[in-house]
Amino acid sequence: MSVEIEDTQDIQNYVRMLVKEQGHEKAELIPILHEINGKYGYISDDAIKELSKQMSIPSSHIYSVATFYRMLSTEPRGRHVIQFCESAPCHVAGGRLVWQKLTEELGLKKGETSEDNKWKLLTTSCLGVCGVGPVMVIDNDIYGNVTPEQVPGILSNYE
Ligand code: FES
Repeated sequence: MSVEIEDTQDIQNYVRMLVKEQGHEKAELIPILHEINGKYGYISDDAIKELSKQMSIPSSHIYSVATFYRMLSTEPRGRHVIQFCESAPCHVAGGRLVWQKLTEELGLKKGETSEDNKWKLLTTSCLGVCGVGPVMVIDNDIYGNVTPEQVPGILSNYE
């Protein structure tokens, strides 16, 4: 049996389990997509097909939802997405040194995904919380007043 087939079965089983647990109401679509994205780092065509079958929602609709939200991806990328604010107020608050530490710790440059698919490193413009800059967001968690020294500890919160 090829790895590809095993992966497809694994995704199908996982999607079925999620729909069974959370229900097939349309309102559950986004939470389920988040779960899939969290486990695999992205939402594959196989996952969309299975979800469409299990929830009786057209694949095209699921695809448009999955591509609408920035925290979801239909392309392989890291399981944890870091968005680092690169706007001026965060930059002058010490963001440059935090960014430097982040790139060193992860061994990644802007836009890159780690080889183990654990991390995707992105930058973002102002997140509207400049008063606590430097700011970064990992998945749905916001970190403010980040110092370079805190970076390893923050990263270690994620499996
Ligand atoms: S400049 Fe970073 S949150 Fe506004």
